[in-house]
Amino acid sequence: MRTQVCIIGGGPSGLLLSQLLHRKGIDTVVLERHSREHVLSRIRAGVLEWGTVELLREAGVGERMDREGLPHLGVNLALQNRAFRIDFQKLVGKKVMVYGQTEVTHDLYAARDAIGGKVICEAEGVTLHDLDTDAPFVTFVKDGSEQRIDADYVVGCDGFHGVSRRSIPADTLREYEKVYPFGWLGVLSRTPPVHDELIYANHPRGFALCSMRNRNLSRYYIQVPLDTKLEDWPDEAFWEELKRRIPTDAAERLVTGPSIEKSIAPLRSYVAEPMRWGRLMLCGDAAHIVPPTGAKGLNLAASDVHYAYHALADHYLEGDDEGLERYSERALARVWKAMRFSWSFTMLMHRFPDQSPFEQRMQEAELEVLESSRAAQTVMAENYVGLPY
Ligand code: FAD
Ligand code: DHB
Repeated sequence: MRTQVCIIGGGPSGLLLSQLLHRKGIDTVVLERHSREHVLSRIRAGVLEWGTVELLREAGVGERMDREGLPHLGVNLALQNRAFRIDFQKLVGKKVMVYGQTEVTHDLYAARDAIGGKVICEAEGVTLHDLDTDAPFVTFVKDGSEQRIDADYVVGCDGFHGVSRRSIPADTLREYEKVYPFGWLGVLSRTPPVHDELIYANHPRGFALCSMRNRNLSRYYIQVPLDTKLEDWPDEAFWEELKRRIPTDAAERLVTGPSIEKSIAPLRSYVAEPMRWGRLMLCGDAAHIVPPTGAKGLNLAASDVHYAYHALADHYLEGDDEGLERYSERALARVWKAMRFSWSFTMLMHRFPDQSPFEQRMQEAELEVLESSRAAQTVMAENYVGLPY
């Protein structure tokens, strides 16, 4: 088989890139290791920056998001059970959209199907070859038989555990990493959200977040130690702990119910450089991971896709290779700023196992600066709604 761009990974980045390129007449094949059902069953991100919203619209998958998504004009930060608000609309004239990654991925699969996009699921043993030549190719096994795809370019959209990043020689790849000493226990429940905006809470017992997917689907998280087991947290215990950490008025009106999903995610910051090597480009979690605080993971994947899409479109439609040559530099410039934001927001909001009273006071002072300074709020708002592409 031959294609112009072979995309590894059928998560949000791979599908979005494939859909955008298809609309410019550029041929792609997406190879996904898991079944579609598996990809669609993962509960992950929930908040879209406006740049991501616009890119999804450009890809022709904005219709349901525009109908069912919830625009949010601000966010709430809490310290010791008392909250204050950061008003994005007033500070920077922008907003975000609450619309789940599961829905985004669902819409992208539907759009690929509608225009006959080639997505090969359950592709095993995907291997990338000759990436440093003009004739790269990819091999994989489907239904027991080995297959080969020749391509002009290969784009690695295969997440943190994928093969693409590992295809870059070790003496070329530079890695930067920070692992945080706690995780997030997340619960999804079919209950009305406790508030019409998100609440990020700093509390002596640990961080908590009140989020949502729609008007009758809530997503809540609490910080937990790394060795926590799901069995340690029956629903009742989760709701009691959440109530202790969030603003008092929110705790009083919290509607609880059975969890329909419960999972623990570790927190990590990670960047791989460069994001392009020969005919390979990396997009999304294949190249970087952020801790979830501030909801940047999926949005960074979308900004990488934006740069990769324009680079490939300029190459094929204009014969202009500048975007390809500068892809790594451009994508990384934005990645590092989002890394800084999610790292600093994580450091501000969590209780660290070895945190000294001084460090705790520094968190409190910084939150008080945020509450009282329009300048500090503006920086927070600019980063939360998403830096320009
Ligand atoms: P992925 O979504 O990881 O997709 C990669 C795809 O590649 C997968 O479908 C995978 O099956 C496939 N693949 C992997 N290896 C291979 C291979 N060898 N061959 C073929 N295919 C392969 N972000 C937020 O903003 N907010 C959140 O609340 C949030 N929660 C998260 C919770 C968890 C448990 C995780 C893991 C991530 C979370 N994120 C969150 C991050 C966000 O979900 C990711 O940034 C986003 O999914 C990145 O999209 P992606 O397409 O780059 O990678
Ligand atoms: C969600 C996750 C986040 O990490 C975040 O900062 C905001 C919302 C969520 O899953 O809804």
